[in-house]
Amino acid sequence: MKVLVTGGAGYIGSHTVLCLLEEGHDVVVLDNLSNSNAESLIRVQEITGKQVALQEIDLLDSAAVHGVLRGGNFDSVVHFAGLKAVGESVVDPLTYYKNNVAGTINLLESMQSAGVHRLVFSSSATVYGNSENVPLTEKLHLEATNPYGRTKQHIEEMLNDLCTSDPTWAVALLRYFNPAGAHESGLIGESPVGVPNNLVPFVAQVAVGRRDKLFVFGGDYPTIDGTGVRDYIHVMDLAEGHLAALGHIQRNCGAFKWNLGTGKGSSVLEVVDAFGKAAGRSIKYELVARRPGDAAVSYADAAAALADLGWSARRNLEQMCADHWRWQVSNPNGYER
Ligand code: NAD
Ligand code: UD1
Repeated sequence: MKVLVTGGAGYIGSHTVLCLLEEGHDVVVLDNLSNSNAESLIRVQEITGKQVALQEIDLLDSAAVHGVLRGGNFDSVVHFAGLKAVGESVVDPLTYYKNNVAGTINLLESMQSAGVHRLVFSSSATVYGNSENVPLTEKLHLEATNPYGRTKQHIEEMLNDLCTSDPTWAVALLRYFNPAGAHESGLIGESPVGVPNNLVPFVAQVAVGRRDKLFVFGGDYPTIDGTGVRDYIHVMDLAEGHLAALGHIQRNCGAFKWNLGTGKGSSVLEVVDAFGKAAGRSIKYELVARRPGDAAVSYADAAAALADLGWSARRNLEQMCADHWRWQVSNPNGYER
């Protein structure tokens, strides 16, 4: 199968490209490299021994996107490209709506005119907002609480409408929980620009000595140890979920939504402990006030993906931390040498 992967140079994208190549697919990446480095794809080629073509294009450049799809003979598109920092989206919502929503419209128009009607979309558990109905099922009402989350919610709604209007479309809406970890080679992984927003990359930078300590946002939640609980999913499990979803939409039309999570929650302190063990050093931390907008507990009901796709997460927190650490310690500055 020939697959176009938007955002394929990024964290989750590069791991998914690797899995696609290993399964024998022909892959073209479309990425403007605004939050990534082409080195990720060089390393994917090194690991797999296979070639991947990079088109350095912005999704907002509709003529260029059109050109890639028109001549490409693609069977499917996996759409990762997007901006993802919640705080930044609150400060600059228009940039987020433009990049994520308008960029997706350009992509869909180009797919439509090229006759490519199969798409896997990176949604997020953030569409559930702060719902307390854990485990979170796909049937819940969507109530994103910030501009980033609302871009995901709007794109999901747009894709549902598209599938209703034209029954030849087949779309997978994948709601990721908290991706972490890296490919077991330690050659590719997450390479955040600036201060990491998410827990695991922050902990990893403390462990490697790039940051002094972790600030734990809130120690008074009604959880096992007072800290927030999340569903951390290994990025390779996530990548494999995309292949399962791609398979499903080759055989079925319509819009499908699946949680990609493990179904198990871990607290901040459990993550700190597991990472410390993986790295063989203790992680310094300080309890501070809650982060505004954070839910106490969030984890997936992962039953639908298992029933429909035969997919479930296979790797645990220990393996995730060990793999994340291998990547971090051998690439302390990410892809920036
Ligand atoms: P990432 O930033 O590493 O990857 C996104 C890629 O998209 C980057 O390579 C970036 O350069 C590219 N990109 C952004 N805007 C573009 C544009 N206009 N044109 C072309 N390329 C563009 O992020 P990631 O963690 O790999 O996330 C991938 C997707 O998954 C995103 O849509 C994100 O919102 C979603 N997601 C991520 C998480 C997470 O915690 N990492 C959780 C839920 C959902
Ligand atoms: C965040 C985003 C969410 C996004 C998700 C995955 C917010 C408000 N939400 O959610 O939209 O879908 O990432 O990208 O930003 N923590 C600390 N110290 C830190 C960092 C995090 O204690 O320095 C805690 C948090 O309070 C939380 C847990 O660690 O309890 C996980 O945080 P994070 O990795 O940011 O993920 P989410 O909160 O799930």
